[in-house]
Amino acid sequence: MEPIEDIDVLSEDEVRQREAGAGSTEDENLDRMKHGYDEAAGGKQVYIETYGCQMNVADSGVVASVLQESGYGLTQDQDEADVVLLNTCAIRENAEQKIRTRLGMLRAEKEKREGELMMGVLGCMAERLREKLLEQEDLVDVVVGPDAYRDLPRLLYEADATGQAAVNVELSKQETYQDIQPVRYDSNGVSAYVSIMRGCDNMCTFCVVPFTRGREESRSVTTILSEVSQLVEEGYKEVTLLGQNVNSYHYTDDGTSVSFAELVDRVSRVSPELRVRYSTSHPKDCTDELLQVHHERPNVCNYIHLPVQHGNTEVLDRMRRTYTREEYLALTERAKELCPGVSLSTDIIAGFCGETEEQHQDTLSLMEEVRYDHAYMFKYSERPQTYAARKLEDDVPEDVKQRRLEEIIELQNQHSKESNESEIGRVHTVLVEGTSKKSDEQLFGRTDTNKGVVFDREDYEQGDYVKVRIDDCTSSTLLGTAIEKTTLEEAARTDSITMAPAVA
Ligand code: 5AD
Ligand code: SF4
Repeated sequence: MEPIEDIDVLSEDEVRQREAGAGSTEDENLDRMKHGYDEAAGGKQVYIETYGCQMNVADSGVVASVLQESGYGLTQDQDEADVVLLNTCAIRENAEQKIRTRLGMLRAEKEKREGELMMGVLGCMAERLREKLLEQEDLVDVVVGPDAYRDLPRLLYEADATGQAAVNVELSKQETYQDIQPVRYDSNGVSAYVSIMRGCDNMCTFCVVPFTRGREESRSVTTILSEVSQLVEEGYKEVTLLGQNVNSYHYTDDGTSVSFAELVDRVSRVSPELRVRYSTSHPKDCTDELLQVHHERPNVCNYIHLPVQHGNTEVLDRMRRTYTREEYLALTERAKELCPGVSLSTDIIAGFCGETEEQHQDTLSLMEEVRYDHAYMFKYSERPQTYAARKLEDDVPEDVKQRRLEEIIELQNQHSKESNESEIGRVHTVLVEGTSKKSDEQLFGRTDTNKGVVFDREDYEQGDYVKVRIDDCTSSTLLGTAIEKTTLEEAARTDSITMAPAVA
C-alpha cells in the first residue's frame, strides 16, 4: 500500500523548532461533517490494543473518545472488530519487536477475513513504521502519530475510500487533547490516568521519546481540574497525573504561572478522598516545594518514582542526565528527610555506551545507598535518531550487558524483599483495585506507598479504603488481614494521632 499523505520525518532540530499546530476542534468538526467521515464509520467496531507506558494507556482513551464521537463502536473482543488499532511503543528494541510479531499475527487474520479488517498503527512507532513497513507491505491501512489522533476519522475514511494507506505522523507543539474527555477504555473504575503534559525537552542521549513524541507542552490547569472533578463524581478514588516528565509541568493561566507542585496541591484539594499519584519525573525538577506538598497533603501519596538511570557521574554525563551521582543521592536524602517513610522507585539502564566494570559497580553501590522499594531495570538498546546512536559506540558486549543487568536485578530483588519484610506487623490503608489474580476469594489493592497487598475479600469491595495489617510477604506482594473499612480523612487523622508523641 502506498501512503496517500506523506509528511516528512522530523529531524532533531525540526522537532525542537516546530511550532505548527493541529487544526482547531471546530474546524475539524466542520470538516468531518462536510466530508461525511462520521457516515463512513457506519457503526464499525474498533478494537484498541495498547503497548508500552501509562501515557499510551491514556492516549488510547483519547483515541476511543475521538472515534466514538465519529460514530464508531468500541469492542473489547478482537473477533468482533472491523478495525484493529495497535497503540505502539518504541522506547526499547524489544518493545518494537513485540509489535512486529503482533502485526505478523494480524496479517494472518486479515487474510482470513479476505481484507475485510482494517488495521492501524498508532503512537511512537508510527513514524518508523511508515518508513519501514508500510511502503513495502500491503498490511496497514492507517499510520497515526501521537499528535494526530483527532485526524483518525478522516484517515480511516480516506483509507477505506481509496484502498490506500493513510498517514499522519506530524508532531505538534500545541496538541494536548485538553478538551477531550477520554473514554476509560480498560478501567477498573477506581484509578484513572489523567494526562497533564505531552512530549519531552530533555534529550537524554539514549532516549527516542523526544523524536517520537516531540516537544514538551503542558495542558491547562482548568481542564485538568475539571477532568479530575468529573472522575470524582463518577466514583474514582485515585488519579495518576501523567506525562513524560511531569515535574517540569508549567502553565500560565490569566498571567499566573502554575508549577507542578502547585498543580499537585490543587488536584489534591478536589476531594480529600482522592489519592493523587504522578508519573514519571526527572530528578533535576524534583523541588523542595514538591516534597513539601507530599508531606503536607495527606492524599498525595508518599511515593516518588525518581529514575536515576546510572550510578556513575561520567556515565550520567554521557547520558545527558544533568545531575551527578552526589546530587542525586542528596536529593533522595532530602526526600527521606522531608517525607518520612517515603517509598522510592527508579529506572536503571545496564550496559550503556562505554560503561566499564567499575562504573557498573557504581550503579550497584548507589542502589545500596538509596535502597529502592522497587525498580524498572533495562539493558541498553540503541534507538534510532538518538544522540547515542549517532555519536556513541554501543560497545558493551551483549553477554556482559546481560550479566550486569542480572546483577542489578538480583540486588533489587533482595532490597524489595527486605523492604517488604519490614512491613510485617504494620497497618496500611489500602485502596482496593479489584480481585486478586490468584483467587476470587481475595482482593488486591495498594498502599499509599504503592505496594501491592492481597487480603481475604470478606465484605469489602472494589473502591473501598481498608485498614490492613501486614502478616507476610513475597518480594513483590504484601499479604495481610483486613481490620476495618476506613476513609482517607479518617486514616490521616489516626496517623497524625499516632505520630503526635514523636513530634512533641
Ligand atoms: N535502552 C534501554 N532502556 C531505555 N530506556 C529508555 N530508553 C532506553 C534505551 N534506549 C528506559 C529508561 C527510561 C525507561 C522508561 O526506559 O530507563 O526511564
Ligand atoms: Fe526520555 Fe529523558 Fe525525556 Fe525521560 S526525560 S522521556 S528518558 S528524554
